[in-house]
Amino acid sequence: MNLPTNERLLSCRDLRVFVDDKEIVKGVDLEIRTGEKHALMGPNGSGKSTLAAALMGHPAYRVEGEILLRGEPIAGLSPDERARRGLFLGFQYPVAVPGVTVASFLRAALAARLGREVPVREFRQKMQAAFDVLEVPKNFTGRYLNDGFSGGEKKRLEVMQMLLLEPAVALLDETDSGLDIDALKIVSAGVNLAARAEMGLLLVTHYQRILDYVQPDIVHVFMGGRIVRTAGPELARELETRGYDWLADPAPTATARG
Ligand SMILES: Nc1ncnc2c1ncn2[C@@H]1O[C@H](COP(=O)(O)OP(=O)(O)O)[C@@H](O)[C@H]1O
Ligand SMILES: [Mg+2]
Repeated sequence: MNLPTNERLLSCRDLRVFVDDKEIVKGVDLEIRTGEKHALMGPNGSGKSTLAAALMGHPAYRVEGEILLRGEPIAGLSPDERARRGLFLGFQYPVAVPGVTVASFLRAALAARLGREVPVREFRQKMQAAFDVLEVPKNFTGRYLNDGFSGGEKKRLEVMQMLLLEPAVALLDETDSGLDIDALKIVSAGVNLAARAEMGLLLVTHYQRILDYVQPDIVHVFMGGRIVRTAGPELARELETRGYDWLADPAPTATARG
């Protein structure tokens, strides 16, 4: 995809996300431009996955505020329509689908993204770059979707999907349970390749570890449903040594009187 450089790919303004009547994301402003890698880091339960799922249009969440994808409002659109317009969410817990091979799943996903059938030859060509980078074993695409996949294989599928679909913006939500080293390297290689292709990336992560392999341009700290700090990659290193607590909102103090 040819994206004008420095285009605003994904922006949200005062984004609030509710489950039932509980506000989980409490007013987020975010702007991701072409080729930018953003890391969204924060403690468990702060609402990171909720934010990512709501951006993708997960029906469990009610959203207030604005979400723009390449300048167009998308908050009212279905997840499928958002995907067609170039938003991608890597799933935390992909499901097993017996009887559907990796290849047929990926080809169907590409057809949905492009809005047309994809001939096998074109599909193979598009897959080649992903195959090269991810060192996909020969038999991988013939296997059934997520059926007995290791953590590394699930990640490989997710990253293959991302590279194939060439989204404008990829939201990658890493499990807080942690990836093994194989999975980490796969994700990192994919993320770095995607960023070179000018995709915008939002890498959601609890741990600093993946940032040893992926250098983010911008790091956001997310706590209690809000972005409490935004800085460069040095912030991730600081979080590793200091944890998150020092960034928590100070307890409301009694106003000084007299
Ligand atoms: N579908 C849902 N139903 C009920 N509560 C939810 C739902 N999704 C998220 N939450 C709640 O929102 C809070 C934030 O969760 P989550 O977004 O998973 O945090 P994180 O990814 O930062 O660990 C948690 O208290 C969680 O229980
Ligand atoms: Mg999460």
